Amino acid sequence: MKDVIIACDFKDKKTTLDFLDQFTDRKPFVKIGMELFYFEGPSIVREIKARGHKIFLDLKLHDIPNTVMSAMKSLCALDPDIIDVHAAGTIAMMKGAMEGAVRSDGSKPLVVAITQLTSTTTEALHNELLINASMEETVIQYAKNVQAAGLSGIVCSPLEAAAVKKNTSPDFITITPGIRPADAKKDDQARFTTPAQAAKNGSDYIVVGRPITRAENPVEAYIKIYNEFMGL
Ligand code: C5P
Repeated sequence: MKDVIIACDFKDKKTTLDFLDQFTDRKPFVKIGMELFYFEGPSIVREIKARGHKIFLDLKLHDIPNTVMSAMKSLCALDPDIIDVHAAGTIAMMKGAMEGAVRSDGSKPLVVAITQLTSTTTEALHNELLINASMEETVIQYAKNVQAAGLSGIVCSPLEAAAVKKNTSPDFITITPGIRPADAKKDDQARFTTPAQAAKNGSDYIVVGRPITRAENPVEAYIKIYNEFMGL
């Protein structure tokens, strides 16, 4: 169940496939986000899937329950392995998402939710969104809502994974970006942990982008991170 997901934050299909071509032995789990999906359309998911990769389709749906339900139906026809919505859309919206989340063979992908984006500051939370609770309280409450709606887990900081599991259940999945190997560049990540620390904190999946996509040898960087996270 544990795995390393490579964030394929590339601008187009060619750059993405050139990158993935380097992985000849094992086909890593990949995350496709808005940039690539909106530029290339659904065919990019079909093509990467056909090459044998598992896919986290990271489009963060947020709309009225009926629209999210229908959108999930469309997206799940692409057979993603993980797909996400915004927990801020409410329990009703997330229940709609669950209803629509059916793949072509009738099975369900893992449906997870974003709690508070890590780009949201406490100041914005209080002054713009008028949420008076602390960031941690908000994340925990959203995680409980996600669980109540029947989703599988959330995307959160590796620093929050342990608290989230404590307040939900050990099998509630945490997917954590914000990973930096001890010897890697930090880029713009302010709150991060190493792969080993993320595993210790209970992360089920880590999402890693630039430490792999911009490495001199991406396959080597991936294997090193994978082995560290899996404790191999
Ligand atoms: O390159 P890097 O490892 O920082 O990439 C992390 C990936 O996870 C990016 O796709 C980024 O958008 C995403 N992400 C994040 N922090 C969040 C949510 C998503 O870094 N809180």
